[in-house]
Amino acid sequence: MRAVQCQQWGGPELLQVVDLALPEPGPGQVRIKVAAASVNFPDLLIIQNKYQMQPPLPFTPGAEVAGEITAVGEGVEGLKLGMQVAALCMVGGFAEECLAAAAACMPLPPGVPATLAAAFVLAYGTSWHALRDRAELKAGETVLILGAAGGVGLAAVEIAKAIGATVIAAASSDEKLAVCREHGADHMINYSDGDLRAKIKAVTAGKGPDVVVDPVGGSFAEPVFRSIAWRGRYLVIGFAGGSVPSLPLNLPLLKGASLVGVFWGEFAKREPKQNAAGMVELMDWVASGKLRPLISRQYSLNEVPQALTDMGERRVVGKIVVVP
Ligand SMILES: NC(=O)c1ccc[n+]([C@@H]2O[C@H](COP(=O)([O-])OP(=O)(O)OC[C@H]3O[C@@H](n4cnc5c(N)ncnc54)[C@H](OP(=O)(O)O)[C@@H]3O)[C@@H](O)[C@H]2O)c1
Repeated sequence: MRAVQCQQWGGPELLQVVDLALPEPGPGQVRIKVAAASVNFPDLLIIQNKYQMQPPLPFTPGAEVAGEITAVGEGVEGLKLGMQVAALCMVGGFAEECLAAAAACMPLPPGVPATLAAAFVLAYGTSWHALRDRAELKAGETVLILGAAGGVGLAAVEIAKAIGATVIAAASSDEKLAVCREHGADHMINYSDGDLRAKIKAVTAGKGPDVVVDPVGGSFAEPVFRSIAWRGRYLVIGFAGGSVPSLPLNLPLLKGASLVGVFWGEFAKREPKQNAAGMVELMDWVASGKLRPLISRQYSLNEVPQALTDMGERRVVGKIVVVP
């Protein structure tokens, strides 16, 4: 089978497409014929050895797939040959076939497109865990979302609207903000220039947002935390901007505010029942049309380096997927 391979740590341009033997599922695993694999920011970090998980070289990146089960390992219950599933494999997904733990597979109802299934769980699961579970966002509260046109960001826009919050989308271009508006955002902030604190103050009538969703980090964190409302919750989700910010600890004190860590993968592992409840709520929202995941582009296996480069250079809107 054809697979993308990371043979040395570095940028997307170092990835190779190679022929590999079909992987055999071990106990508790299944093999999946990949119909689609989504691209997530952690894929870009893993190949550069900048992620918390470090697979041994060589390996195939690709954390999230959807497709048909083609082999079932020992001791697997409830999953059968031919079933369509979405799965979090963490690595291995940018290939014609990949392995996943049976516990990390979700059977798909008939008619769900593979591209949507592959692009949903990680981004929407993260934003659900952040907003619903960690921030306990209420209807009527105001949420500011940084990097709002990205995978996690746009999912947060839609989930916050489904909860009944007022959404302020912040992103680096008017084109990206137009997409956020189409997906329900109430106010837009272009943070590529100008005084970010003044813009936040203007759209919140001086009060500041109750909740901040931050998958970007870097130089935005401190000015945004200084703008948060009394009893605000600042969700630390990721550092796509490249640097991990530090914050003077007097700031949470002055606002009676909380700095809230979000690590969806660990949550899903440690608290599977709560995560499953989140997936049920998300599926209900998809069925009722409240969530409309945007798949903005498809790439082939040969184009995986381009897909990851587009992500690193901030050209992605919503989600992108690889169709082997
Ligand atoms: N904590 C968790 O459980 C968890 C789970 C999934 C993902 N994450 C993290 O969440 C972040 C977003 O992931 P994602 O898959 O949504 O990525 P994404 O689709 O690429 O979105 C990231 C956004 O960050 C902004 N950005 C600012 N500076 C950037 C830079 N130098 N390079 C790239 N993007 C930059 C971009 O928006 P603008 O151009 O508008 O600024 C972009 O839309 C990543 O850090 C990822 O590791 C965390």
